[in-house]
Amino acid sequence: MLQPTAPTGSISFAAGTLDPEFFPYRTLRQLLASISRRKPQLLSTYALSPGLRAFHNSIAATYARWGCTLRPDEIVTAAGCMEAITICLRAVTHPGDLVAVESPTFFGLLQALEYQHLKVVEIPTHSEHGMSLDALEVVLRTMPVKAVIASPNLNNPLGGSMSLENKRRLVGLIDTADIPLIEDDGYGDFAEAPVRALPAKAFDRHGRVMLCSSFTKSLAPGFRLGWVSGGRYHNRVELLKMMTSMGSPPILESVLATYLASGGYERFLRRLRARLVEQRQEYADVISDCFPEGTRLSSPAGGYLLWVELPDGVATDLLMDHAAGRSYAPGVVFSASGREFRNCLRIGVGRKMTPDIMAALQHLGRTFIATRTSPATTAMTESTGSSAMGPAGALSQT
Ligand SMILES: Cc1ncc(COP(=O)(O)O)c(C=O)c1O
Repeated sequence: MLQPTAPTGSISFAAGTLDPEFFPYRTLRQLLASISRRKPQLLSTYALSPGLRAFHNSIAATYARWGCTLRPDEIVTAAGCMEAITICLRAVTHPGDLVAVESPTFFGLLQALEYQHLKVVEIPTHSEHGMSLDALEVVLRTMPVKAVIASPNLNNPLGGSMSLENKRRLVGLIDTADIPLIEDDGYGDFAEAPVRALPAKAFDRHGRVMLCSSFTKSLAPGFRLGWVSGGRYHNRVELLKMMTSMGSPPILESVLATYLASGGYERFLRRLRARLVEQRQEYADVISDCFPEGTRLSSPAGGYLLWVELPDGVATDLLMDHAAGRSYAPGVVFSASGREFRNCLRIGVGRKMTPDIMAALQHLGRTFIATRTSPATTAMTESTGSSAMGPAGALSQT
């Protein structure tokens, strides 16, 4: 699913990754070389949790410019956003506990929950406005939920974002329920606002929001550097990181600390966001031209994921075939039941549009159109459709 190229060399739209050409490799390489020379001790000392203070200071200073106060002494470095979330889950839940998640949501998160033997209640999520807070409120009142995981900025796969008012309300709801919010802000740096969109953490007055993010999506996938701002759970997060993998590579933390402190990251993000607006539009135009009539497409305010909802009767999971050039993330992997969103797919639009990519999208479109008009397939897949576009769908627990 994460490979940008399918095994046969055909084009895959499954991955949530950017075109490598976008990243500022030259700058990062130069920083790595000069810091290794100037601070050889970063290569020779043992790295322990919570990580390099200069890195945490740079993160806090960057967020302060974005309008969100983070305490450097509450940040723990992690190996990507996924480790950050996994450690948060271990800090605040026990096997068998119930966790509320968006629906649809990132399949890696569902796997992490399953791996930790956690139960899931799926909260309907809107392609534009994010998690339904009315539904969440009912669930928190009636079910023994021990934590909420949400991406109020650019949820994966829908790309919806909550308004500021809803981010504030979300924090109010978890405060009232006295449970933590694990905020997955992995795509937050792409959220287009005059400056970077605020996370829900900006409204956290009681330390119940555990903000998780990384530089995997936006800057340096190979660094695998992420972090948690753990609020009142910080000590436990720090200890669990230590017990899991001791620490993170300080030389890489130092490179990113320096890049952030120079303002380079924010300048890079501004350019990247502008390019991605055009790129999303290019993909959307091709999809609108060549996918079946009645197809609906998300319109995220940032990032490089598009959610496509095909007319009922097309089961995207049955049509996946890497060898035949049909490679994408089928809708079913974004629900815990593995049954929802069968008529949907997520398309990664992180790679620059080329004639080959356009041809691959057209090929996909022809396959979906042919499937719709084939009576056998239609009969097999009837009534499998579900929607995250428009009004929120039904609530489900797994
Ligand atoms: C919503 C979401 N959260 C977390 C992650 C994991 O991020 P990382 O690669 O930094 O561990 C991903 C990766 O695809 C993601 O899409």
